[in-house]
Amino acid sequence: MKAVVLGAAGGIGQPLSLLLKSNPLVTELGLYDIVNAPGVAVDLSHIATPAKVEGYLPADDGLKKVLTGADVVVIPAGIPRKPGMTRDDLFKINAGIVRDLATGIATTAPKAFVLVISNPVNSTVPIVAEVFKKHGVFDPKRLFGVCTLDVVRASTFVSEILGDRSLATSIKIPVVGGHSGVTIVPLLSQSTHPIPSSISSSTIDTVINRIQFGGDEIVKAKDGAGSATLSMAFAGAEFVGKVLRAKGGEKGIVAPTFVNLIADAEGGAKLKAELGAEVEYFSAPVELGVEGVYKINGLGTISDSEKKLIQVAVPELITNIEKGVSFVGAPK
Ligand code: NAD
Ligand code: LMR
Repeated sequence: MKAVVLGAAGGIGQPLSLLLKSNPLVTELGLYDIVNAPGVAVDLSHIATPAKVEGYLPADDGLKKVLTGADVVVIPAGIPRKPGMTRDDLFKINAGIVRDLATGIATTAPKAFVLVISNPVNSTVPIVAEVFKKHGVFDPKRLFGVCTLDVVRASTFVSEILGDRSLATSIKIPVVGGHSGVTIVPLLSQSTHPIPSSISSSTIDTVINRIQFGGDEIVKAKDGAGSATLSMAFAGAEFVGKVLRAKGGEKGIVAPTFVNLIADAEGGAKLKAELGAEVEYFSAPVELGVEGVYKINGLGTISDSEKKLIQVAVPELITNIEKGVSFVGAPK
């Protein structure tokens, strides 16, 4: 399968491309950026794995060339946060970048699965959808916001409070909602390794807050040099890997991802009823299939405190989604 990375020379783009070059399901890897993508491609092409790698710049129809034949397109293009910024502060610049890249995908690779990493994810995913609608090629089953880093953080941080870091690779905690602050809702009550009652509620509240605001921790530590790149590349490669396996026919792969709820009309309607709100997009545990979204799972049984977190998340999500939708509708 041909995987394409748009923004491939960046902090996420480079390690993500490295990990994709190592994925045996990737037979072709297309890299695109406004700088340095051909150099990154030549570097990766020396790695002894079968995937053929090519890199393009915007000149000479580079976007069209890289997207030709793409099965999966991953978008980490755009600016990252600096201390003091919210993800929404990135909208001003990243919305236009994502809109223009989505236009390229809609015209050259309209059947590709599109995986959006660029922030603010809660708004950039609707932007891609609206661009695709304008071109008459929108299929909600093929559009995903990548929220895997929240899931990865949940496994890491919860294994730490359980006092056993070796659990980090096996413990799974669904994280639902969206990808920014209070819209990130970890469902610790559904942890595959139950949280013992000996762990205090204040420790649990602290870990929930750490999962919701984990991005800030990295932005602060990098002190102006950007946000999560390596952990995001790890998370992104994990999600791309799942999408590729499902596209290849493997069944039963479930991952939380931010999708348009019409991608599975029945599952989406049930989820909206559970949420008690007309929210168009939501990160829910999604079963992946050959066509993309196969089934949107509901929230399942959640605790009263998790219900409260959802109630806080939904209004902010709706505002973020609307911002992305109206951006594409507005005159340039
Ligand atoms: P970065 O600045 O290191 O890299 C971004 C790359 O995008 C650069 O190489 C830049 O040249 C390229 N780019 C800019 N405009 C482009 C265009 N029009 N076409 C193609 N490439 C273009 O930033 P980063 O640290 O890699 O972060 C990228 C984005 O990912 C940011 O918006 C960040 O907030 C987001 N992010 C999301 C998550 C998530 O969980 N979804 C996690 C971390 C970061
Ligand atoms: C993250 O969660 O680390 C990313 O969304 C980057 C950020 O801005 O925090």
